[in-house]
Amino acid sequence: MSLKRISGSLFALALLLCLVAAGLAAGSRRNDRPWMDRGLSPDARARLVVQAMTEPEKIQLLSSTSVNPDQPLPLAGLIRGIDRLGIPAIKETNAGLGIAIPFRNGHHNTADEATALPSGLAIAATWSPDLAYAAGSLIGSEARAKGLNVVLGGAANLARDPRNGRNFEYAGEDPLLTGSIVGEAIRGIGDRHVISTMKHFAVNDQETNRSNLNAVIEPAALRESDLLAFEIANQRGHPGAVMCSYNRVNGTPACENDWLLNRILRKEWGFDGWVMSDWGAVHSTARAAQAGLDQQSGVEWDGARYFGEALAASVKDGAVPGRQVDEMAQRVLRSLFAAGVVDDKTPATLADSSRDAHLAQHLAERGIVLLKNSAGLLPLAPDIAHVAVIGGHADIGVMSGGGSSQVIPAGGPALQIPAPAAATWTVFDPSSPLNALAAKRPQAHVDYASGDDLKTAAALARTADVAIVFATKWEAEGHDSGDLSLPADEDALIDSVAAANPKTIVVLETGNPVRMPWKDKVAGILEAWYPGQGGGEAIANILVGNTEPAGRLPITFPAGDAQLPRPEIPGYTSSPGNPIDVDYREGAAVGYKWFDARRIAPLFPFGFGLSYTSFAFHDLSVTRSEVPSVSFTVTNTGLRRGSAVPQLYAWAPGADGQVTQRLVGWRRVDLAPGQTERVDIEVPPLLLAGFDAERDRWQLSETAYPIAIGASAGDTPLTASLPVAPRELPP
Ligand code: BGC
Repeated sequence: MSLKRISGSLFALALLLCLVAAGLAAGSRRNDRPWMDRGLSPDARARLVVQAMTEPEKIQLLSSTSVNPDQPLPLAGLIRGIDRLGIPAIKETNAGLGIAIPFRNGHHNTADEATALPSGLAIAATWSPDLAYAAGSLIGSEARAKGLNVVLGGAANLARDPRNGRNFEYAGEDPLLTGSIVGEAIRGIGDRHVISTMKHFAVNDQETNRSNLNAVIEPAALRESDLLAFEIANQRGHPGAVMCSYNRVNGTPACENDWLLNRILRKEWGFDGWVMSDWGAVHSTARAAQAGLDQQSGVEWDGARYFGEALAASVKDGAVPGRQVDEMAQRVLRSLFAAGVVDDKTPATLADSSRDAHLAQHLAERGIVLLKNSAGLLPLAPDIAHVAVIGGHADIGVMSGGGSSQVIPAGGPALQIPAPAAATWTVFDPSSPLNALAAKRPQAHVDYASGDDLKTAAALARTADVAIVFATKWEAEGHDSGDLSLPADEDALIDSVAAANPKTIVVLETGNPVRMPWKDKVAGILEAWYPGQGGGEAIANILVGNTEPAGRLPITFPAGDAQLPRPEIPGYTSSPGNPIDVDYREGAAVGYKWFDARRIAPLFPFGFGLSYTSFAFHDLSVTRSEVPSVSFTVTNTGLRRGSAVPQLYAWAPGADGQVTQRLVGWRRVDLAPGQTERVDIEVPPLLLAGFDAERDRWQLSETAYPIAIGASAGDTPLTASLPVAPRELPP
């Protein structure tokens, strides 16, 4: 036998021995750790781990710390891993609009940067669950690339008040739109093996006194509004965690609310993940644990460490049964297994920053809403000679919203200025609309004035073919806006520019609807929301017509505060911290439903948005069946390609007998000039039903419901009646 052959055989033998040894090791590990068998269900695996856990290990799993200086990135919450059992550390970060690593005393490291997506309202304005999924998938990938496995994202609160400082994180005022958009974002995160956290459960609908606020609302109306949004998001997204909110709901803190957490979330909706508290939202040990809270978050934020040692003591003295703690630990572990967080040890793939930046810009483009376009001023003519760009730091970047969702954008902030009402900064993302516009119209003079001086701005506007004013309004967690106005100097700026040049276009970078006392004086209005790190490019692309404006409002723009159910935000002027009741007397009539029921005309209705082309909807027909459906035809009647967003509304009585307008479906249809498409929309019966609180059931009470197809909640010309068999819906 040649030497070569002998060494070859020895090598093969060694390889075989290694494989056998590895197999035995894996086998013995599997015997040691039967929960590592991927063939078992997440429930079974979690149960096996719990059986192997010591009491202190279980208790450890049930609270997180916000103090974690040993971690590479500052985490919102950390739960140390249990190495002996192969359970990884749980690393939580905020991530509604991208991975949000907080500033380190105003500074940041490059590793803290992430793709800054447009705001939640901007993503909702795309009316595209597919794009919301893509946003979630981006967030999940970037979380993994940073070594994080739980994101505190999936915010499904309804925009009950258009002055709520966190609306920019949410997906608007409608349960179906919110549930679909947020649910798909959650699904996108989960598909990257990252757990998302649906929040803030529930009725955390204003920031003023959020910790001392009691939301008072009829339970049935709550089912038909805020809770319906969460129900749909849960069904579509299957989040691994839910965050209970700061406020009380009908007298009971959300984090010790058995009705919300055990009865509705778990029993009715089948949620099988864990409930964590918002940071500083826990008030008790035994009460909270019994009511369904599994984990106290960021224990340093609460008045006391209610879980941890206090929970162990409650078990000892019998206030909390031991099996309750087992169940709590089991729920946390179940989600870790179900999401693949335990198994998926493959090194995190690096996030693809250029692909992510492209998506951020695309989302912004699809979410920008064209509100006014007199005489077809937009898109700007290709041969335009002189454009005046004014205000909003448009020479530097675009505004973003503040608070825990704040992302440090790729490349770092373009600008940080002291924020209006807080000891923090307003961050501008690095994408200058001025530069982007100048690059897209190279033959034109594109001049800039800061807008600080009205006379200079007006003088520049007077000489230009078109003046574009950028108006910004900062919103942030922890604050509401006292009213719907833009900051006063911005209204004055728009007035002076419009007086100097009738071809004035206003681009709004806002986190909420705003009043527009100058609406009739300007030629064009674009709502760009907080458009994220690709915002400047996106705005410029819409202005020049490289991209069509495809967004539709996910929230009503009222004409003024007096039109709202509460003309003043409860507690806004009283001293902060005073306990208050907020009486949500409007019940399920949130947003456009309120305007419809009261026959009030808003400034711009929910669902509204212009296009650079025009559409007609015709030939509506209905089909009666278990799940009824409608079909109709959409035609592009204009001269450019564009997307129509026909919306299907129904009018149905709620539990209180009050008939409300309800969005029950929609479709995005992309059409070439002259092109026609037949569209079918199924109507899930739940969306027509009222909640019968006495019988604890959804009920279809009518034999037929008035329905209409239209371009917005305020423009529904194509009407019919939808026949349905009255019945109780299965639970
Ligand atoms: C916010 C949550 C956030 C948490 C952790 C709270 O103040 O309400 O949305 O996830 O802080 O940062």
